[in-house]
Amino acid sequence: MGRISDFGSIFCLRNSRCDKMELSTKSIGRISTGIEELDLKLGGGYPEGKSILITGGTGTGKSIFGIHFLYKACKNEKKCVLIATEESPEDILEQSEILGLGLSPYYKHGQLIIEKAFQSRSEKVQTSKFGFTPEGLEIDLPSLSDFVPPDTEVVVIDNIGVFTLRLSIQDFRDQFDALNYVLSSREGCTAMFIMDETAFKMSRKLAEYSVTGSLRLSVNENPYTGNTERYLIIPKMRKTELKLESLRFEITQKGIRLF
Ligand SMILES: Nc1ncnc2c1ncn2[C@@H]1O[C@H](COP(=O)(O)OP(=O)(O)O)[C@@H](O)[C@H]1O
Ligand SMILES: [Mg+2]
Repeated sequence: MGRISDFGSIFCLRNSRCDKMELSTKSIGRISTGIEELDLKLGGGYPEGKSILITGGTGTGKSIFGIHFLYKACKNEKKCVLIATEESPEDILEQSEILGLGLSPYYKHGQLIIEKAFQSRSEKVQTSKFGFTPEGLEIDLPSLSDFVPPDTEVVVIDNIGVFTLRLSIQDFRDQFDALNYVLSSREGCTAMFIMDETAFKMSRKLAEYSVTGSLRLSVNENPYTGNTERYLIIPKMRKTELKLESLRFEITQKGIRLF
């Protein structure tokens, strides 16, 4: 669907030849999050053609949010790419099957591409330089877009945290903005960036500035019951009317349930 990137709209507003009416009346499309209750909260889903950031500590459910998003997009016949930096395609597919969100058929038919970014990159380094695999070396974030074919409609990158290890904060921000810009300039491509809490904090939460929406996941103790519970807060979702509240969710055998 038609879309104007944030950068494009700034440029356009400064350009006297631009049709400002078109800008102001253009309503944004939505793409399902793959979680029914979350779609309802967000007025239909994530803003389509934009970028979403998911952050949280280990085990908070980030990858499972990614699996929901991919599963629903695949079911809706969208072309999807998952760039995985931590888990093997086999592990991801297995996890999706366990949750009843099976990605395997889509992977087999090529509708879903899973790229193991780290492996292919580190293999080169291993053979050419050191004889071992140094973490995060020479990886640059914008080049991840090379893994994303031009007709891709949904791309999930899980986890961009590994790329922050050897970058200064400024370099991380420049590279992340460049990647985000390249992907969101593509017509109809919605990007989900997953980032672990440690890297998010180390990079001073800068990734949150450039994206359209941000979901923060956490596991907290309920002070009243003493139970450990999962929470989601959405500090940012452009073009979406949203109450700032902590939403409790559970990960069940059928995936995420939001309350
Ligand atoms: N079938 C399941 N039933 C209940 N909980 C599950 C199931 N599968 C995974 N989980 C929970 O999800 C957590 C992992 O979620 P994941 O999305 O991989 O976390 P993250 O990517 O944030 O590290 C596990 O620690 C486990 O508690
Ligand atoms: Mg994960």
